[in-house]
Amino acid sequence: MHQWKPALLALASTLGYGTSLWPTTQQGQAVDPSILTSLGAWSFYVPNGDIGRYDIPDAVFPGCEVDQVNLFMRHDFRGPSKGVGSGIATMISNIVNASNAEDSSWNFAIGDGQSHPELHFLSRLKDSYKAVPSELLTAYGEQDAHASGYRFKKMYGYLLGHMDWYNTPVNQSLPVFVRTTDQSRVNVTSWTFSEGFMGPDWRNRLAAPLLTLPDSSKAYNDSLAVGTCPFSQNDTSSDDAFAIWNDVYLPKVVQRLQRALPNLNLTTSDVQAMQNACPFQSAYLSHLSPFCAIFNLHEWELYSYGQDLQQFENAGYGGPFGRAWGVGWVNELLARLTDSPVTDRTSTNTTLDADKNTFPLGLPVYLDFTHDTQLASAVAVMGLLKDGRKLDPTKYPSKDRLWNTAHIVPMGGRMVVERLTCRGKPQKYVRILLNDAVLPLSGLKECGVQAQGRKHASAWLCKLSDFVTSQSFAQAGGDWRNCYL
Ligand SMILES: *[C@@H]1O[C@H](CO)[C@@H](O)[C@H](O)[C@H]1NC(C)=O
Ligand SMILES: *[C@@H]1O[C@H](CO)[C@@H](O)[C@H](O)[C@H]1NC(C)=O
Ligand SMILES: *[C@@H]1O[C@H](CO)[C@@H](O)[C@H](O)[C@H]1NC(C)=O
Ligand SMILES: *[C@@H]1O[C@H](CO)[C@@H](O)[C@H](O)[C@H]1NC(C)=O
Ligand SMILES: *[C@@H]1O[C@H](CO)[C@@H](O)[C@H](O)[C@H]1NC(C)=O
Ligand SMILES: *[C@@H]1O[C@H](CO)[C@@H](O)[C@H](O)[C@H]1NC(C)=O
Ligand SMILES: *[C@@H]1O[C@H](CO)[C@@H](O)[C@H](O)[C@H]1NC(C)=O
Repeated sequence: MHQWKPALLALASTLGYGTSLWPTTQQGQAVDPSILTSLGAWSFYVPNGDIGRYDIPDAVFPGCEVDQVNLFMRHDFRGPSKGVGSGIATMISNIVNASNAEDSSWNFAIGDGQSHPELHFLSRLKDSYKAVPSELLTAYGEQDAHASGYRFKKMYGYLLGHMDWYNTPVNQSLPVFVRTTDQSRVNVTSWTFSEGFMGPDWRNRLAAPLLTLPDSSKAYNDSLAVGTCPFSQNDTSSDDAFAIWNDVYLPKVVQRLQRALPNLNLTTSDVQAMQNACPFQSAYLSHLSPFCAIFNLHEWELYSYGQDLQQFENAGYGGPFGRAWGVGWVNELLARLTDSPVTDRTSTNTTLDADKNTFPLGLPVYLDFTHDTQLASAVAVMGLLKDGRKLDPTKYPSKDRLWNTAHIVPMGGRMVVERLTCRGKPQKYVRILLNDAVLPLSGLKECGVQAQGRKHASAWLCKLSDFVTSQSFAQAGGDWRNCYL
């Protein structure tokens, strides 16, 4: 019997696991909850689900205490992009048309001699389907962001000197600074997270006013936006890798379904849209979509890998921009960790970063809200999760590959960089968590055993000064020049 992680099961149960809302597979069993984390960058973030993923205990090292925390968070679960959404709409329209035809029961007849309870809903889709709005944060995402803020309070609320600000008069500011963007899914995520963390009056309590940056303006540089790297628009490496992989894995999936439903003409794009409908419809409905049951776990893993490739080329170690977008944010992080002015000539805005109202230093809590591209790129710029293997678009890699998008930038993915003070140690330390998992700093030689000693190195604590030295790539501008070749 399969052992599911309790955290995953808890998420599954909030989505209706064990109720009639949770669909069943071909054999009539419930869908494996692991598919929730096999949906690439459209995976669900599982609260505490990745603890110990890299075999490092998450408890704070004995004698140490976090004195500063930097959150870098992707917006929570959104609707599909316009392109993905229109692919889903076309697929739905094809199926609904087939079910409207006079010979509709013939259209949906099963042809492979097996029973397929998971396909029955297709012939009744027109009665049950709800169109998924594109781009915007879903209600599920909003509640998840709020709950994330509340969990953040339980972890780090002591840095605000008080456990519960919800009912407290607004006559005292909190040492917190928040930056977000003017894109709805990002700004709504930041607002609900902040409310979960600091209560409904959070805006009036911030150490400096909430800073909302333009998200897609090409005429404005800032470290949270995706519009800042002009040449990236001409880069096709991520789409190319994605297309190659789809040609490798999708035809077999299409054939399998086509055998089951011989009287429907299933195109590759329709089958891909059926896969895409699973994450987006589930998050929209706040319970698992029946589309999720059409595919088995192995097919979901193959699907997820396509997004690993895409992300690896676009924002990871693969392509020319992966180690460019995030450079500015990393340099801002170094400034915050060391309480010193930002030194950067990439995506940061020097006017903003020189002003204490828009870039205050010396605070214990910084919250930045952004997109998957910025977050994944920051991971790569920092030299984290690097296993030296390039992802191959023609072949499924090992399951323990480090570049696994579902565990780097799921919807609501977050990196937390902690600065710690340790008893009896004059210097401060740094520790990094990605989706609650402590990250190994094995790619950073300054953070290895020789410099840190065995005990600290095995908890992946790195002395602040060594950590700063380890970030020489970002300090030298990273690959930023590739954005302006
Ligand atoms: C479904 O049928 C409607 C009405 O006949 C038509 O307008 C639409 O284009 C069809 N959809 C597809 C995807 O063929
Ligand atoms: C805030 O207001 C409360 C209630 O009015 C009062 O007791 C408290 O002293 C005030 N705190 C500060 C820092 O002004
Ligand atoms: C939040 O995002 C929406 C949608 O992009 C935008 O219209 C709105 O102005 C933003 N709000 C703020 C305060 O930035
Ligand atoms: C953004 O920064 C780059 C240099 O890093 C500069 O070339 C570009 O002009 C800046 N963009 C704007 C809108 O100022
Ligand atoms: C930097 O921010 C300031 C203040 O918002 C703005 O006026 C300026 O245009 C920005 N500069 C760049 C290069 O984006
Ligand atoms: C993208 O490619 C087009 C055509 O080759 C070129 O005209 C344009 O300047 C390029 N833009 C960028 C930002 O590289
Ligand atoms: C599927 O395509 C074939 C060949 O193009 C066509 O003859 C058949 O009518 C189509 N079936 C359906 C259900 O659309």
